[in-house]
Amino acid sequence: MEPHERPAYGTLALGGLLGSVGLLLGLWAGSLSVPSDPDAGVAAGLAGAALLLVVLVAGTFLLLGLGLAGVGWWALRTGRTRVPSVALGAGLGFVGTGLLTPLVPSLLLLAPVAALVGGFAGHRLAPAPAGSEGRADRPGGREPGRTDTLFSRPVPRRAMPHEIVVIPGDGIGQEVVPAAVEVLEAVAGDPGPEFEFVEREAGDRVREETGEALPGTTYEAAAAADATLFGAAGDTAADVILPLREAVGSFVNVRPARAYPGVEAVRPETDLVFLRENTEGVYAGHESRLSEDLSTLTRVITTSASERLAEFACDYVSERGEDSFQVVHKANVMRETDGRFRDAVVDVADERGIDTEEVLMDAFATRVCLDPTAFDVVVCPNLAGDVLSDLAAGLVGGLGLLPSANIGPGNALFEPVHGTAPDIAGEGVANPCAAVLSAAMLLDHLGYGAEGDRVREAVEGVLADGPHTPDLGGDATTDDVTAAVVERL
Ligand code: NAI
Ligand code: MG
Repeated sequence: MEPHERPAYGTLALGGLLGSVGLLLGLWAGSLSVPSDPDAGVAAGLAGAALLLVVLVAGTFLLLGLGLAGVGWWALRTGRTRVPSVALGAGLGFVGTGLLTPLVPSLLLLAPVAALVGGFAGHRLAPAPAGSEGRADRPGGREPGRTDTLFSRPVPRRAMPHEIVVIPGDGIGQEVVPAAVEVLEAVAGDPGPEFEFVEREAGDRVREETGEALPGTTYEAAAAADATLFGAAGDTAADVILPLREAVGSFVNVRPARAYPGVEAVRPETDLVFLRENTEGVYAGHESRLSEDLSTLTRVITTSASERLAEFACDYVSERGEDSFQVVHKANVMRETDGRFRDAVVDVADERGIDTEEVLMDAFATRVCLDPTAFDVVVCPNLAGDVLSDLAAGLVGGLGLLPSANIGPGNALFEPVHGTAPDIAGEGVANPCAAVLSAAMLLDHLGYGAEGDRVREAVEGVLADGPHTPDLGGDATTDDVTAAVVERL
């Protein structure tokens, strides 16, 4: 069993089973004590039934408690997590009340309280898991030259050809997504992967034509595909990308931000990855207009989504051979929501033996500009991840360089971080690198890490030697850069 799996569920089931057996035994014993003479009197019968009930419930609590306590004890002995300690404490609470109930029946009412107190005590007294001490300091940076391969644990390869839904969307999405498809076609074929591209529509243009920014056919295609490649949507971005992320069941947005030799950057030493929570926070869509003067927004943070992100982050750093990440939040002000986020992430990391460094998000904005090497894998809530990754784009040479992956349990959607760039749309000069690097992440995800690396190396080569689009100081077109990447493959 992995250390982060939670044996407490098994414990609960065992306790319940034992409790049920106790109940049946009690009922059988009780039936023996029912007087055979109906004239024995209703009062005696009622008193007997009440006593029987107390004994039965006490017995159930005893068995449930012993079951919980037993597995809790086992997990503590093997030096595991807080959860079994909570089970142990709660179990002992049940046992205590179970033992005393036959003497003082009203104590029965206190059983849940005793279990709660026991559980809380278990939580407080739980020993820190091995390797979680001194979480504040991250170890040294990554070794140079490491690739950005994102998933050494790919989803199992599905039958070929892989169905890739392609949604260019609006603005430069129409220019950079075809470039990414061209690159995927260049790495496809014997012995590489085979793809079947299915183009679908979404965005401002479709809404003008049909009234719907995200047609149902597009949503369903993305949900059913092996992977989706998306460009950008304009005014309808929220109506398109949020449901699309939902369609693929995405819970994390992976956003690598690194500088490249040959590209002028404010901070050429930048090499970080943002792991952004992707389903809630202020993007959960709960906004209200309460009056002419007042609008409100409800921020949603759940322990479950935060833990799922943290589990992903632990896997992610482990696969890179690292043992720490940074968690960015603002729990000093948003005590309830970001407090919950912080606690959930740090607890999971503790259980997994991964070190975490907490950084307040405003301080992070300053520190990452002054010294980006202080960070490597940055775990953050939704809005913070969106804003801070764009800030990191500014450090490495612009939005034309930042790819992203929206990962779900099986399915995934890949998109450049940038939007529709209306200021340059239609001119044929958009930088295709962000979209092409997103396609490389798609290759990783489908289990073609070597092909993903080839694409990244080709992009690195073009960024080092040119040609460059105008955002990087050159005068090349989208097609020139794409052709140069394809030529290097
Ligand atoms: P933007 O990312 O589209 O553009 C910001 C700046 O970066 C512009 O100067 C643009 O020319 C430049 N830029 C972005 N990508 C580039 C590339 N590949 N090559 C060269 N230059 C590039 O952000 P902006 O201007 O705030 O938003 C424009 C529209 O895009 C808005 O309607 C917004 O709603 C939408 N948007 C959509 C997103 C999505 O669909 N995921 C994400 C962000 C914005
Ligand atoms: Mg953004």
